[in-house]
Amino acid sequence: MSGISDILTELKAEHRLRSIPGQPSEGFLDLSSNDYLGLAQRHAEFREEFTERFSDAPYSSSASRLLSMQQKYHLMLEAFLAELYGKETLLFNSGYHANVGCIGALTLPSTLFVCDKLIHASIVDGLRINGAEFKRFPHNDIAKLKRILEKEASRYDHLIVVVESIYSMDGDEAPLSELVALKQQYPSILLYVDEAHAFGVRGKRGLGLCEEYDLIKHADILIGTFGKAAASIGAFAVVTEEMKSFLINTARPFIFSTALPPVNVAWSLLMTEKIIGMENERRHLAEISHYFSERISEISSQPTGSDSQIIPYLTGSAQRALDIADKLRQAGYLALPIRRPTVPPGGERIRFSLSAAMTRQELCDVADILQKIN
Ligand SMILES: Cc1ncc(COP(=O)(O)O)c(C=O)c1O
Repeated sequence: MSGISDILTELKAEHRLRSIPGQPSEGFLDLSSNDYLGLAQRHAEFREEFTERFSDAPYSSSASRLLSMQQKYHLMLEAFLAELYGKETLLFNSGYHANVGCIGALTLPSTLFVCDKLIHASIVDGLRINGAEFKRFPHNDIAKLKRILEKEASRYDHLIVVVESIYSMDGDEAPLSELVALKQQYPSILLYVDEAHAFGVRGKRGLGLCEEYDLIKHADILIGTFGKAAASIGAFAVVTEEMKSFLINTARPFIFSTALPPVNVAWSLLMTEKIIGMENERRHLAEISHYFSERISEISSQPTGSDSQIIPYLTGSAQRALDIADKLRQAGYLALPIRRPTVPPGGERIRFSLSAAMTRQELCDVADILQKIN
């Protein structure tokens, strides 16, 4: 097809052609993975316990959740999460499935989604695939959000405000308390909070930013993922009993896809159990993140804006993002360039993603190198 080569040529000319990175040789410090608690690097430590407790877990579910006979661990993990959050929970195969599925299910007549400009592609896909009506407000701009709500509240039966608790590319927090206050003003609002980058990392037990601010009961749909801090794969929605039943009956990625392998779900269960007690790791991660964010702010002469372990270093162009990533790689650091369409034009960056397994000294060395090549 002629269009294909044109597209590839254009992407290359704009420094936006992506490729799958090769396996780096040993000794690299990986600043690009979402292994925020360093759990993925500690798999060997937990292998024995895992084998002892979960040796009967099958390697395939062989059917979707609605048909599979292999659900012991799915039910156990949902029950465990339900106890932690104090609400019902439903597993999905990934965060992508969860967002596409929940947004699709909620695309009902007279429903308007009101979304932060920086919401994740999986939410955008959920809106687009399902033909949802949606409006976007400028990132974290509560005044603009209020204006949309004022205008639209009388025109729709349901307004669903969609945010991420920690934004995946900017690392800043959504103003959750203000959003909850808005909910009290507009009873037709449902609050949808994607905690992909806060699960494991924030809150006393690592349940996310809603736990940290004691707002779990106000999030109507809370999404958590296992592919990041939990060093596994899969996702879950925290919802009411009625919403869970509704999603089971209407969320198409839940209904029409083979369920996660039980062996994987059992691993997610073990990792979630470990996460609860990892307060020291969370504290350490917060400390080194604060330190590194200050260093990056100094180097770039502007605040990073980050409130978390995700710290952006804006490069101003795709070409410069590639150059800096390349130089960091030559120095032994893996930090990948982020370009369009993941971020808007002008928002090109190196996304530093920190882990509790890192030391302050290692990050001091990264910042020193960056300062030199800046
Ligand atoms: C905010 C957010 N939600 C959802 C996802 C998708 O999660 P998963 O990787 O489990 O599909 C991501 C992945 O990067 C994300 O950043």
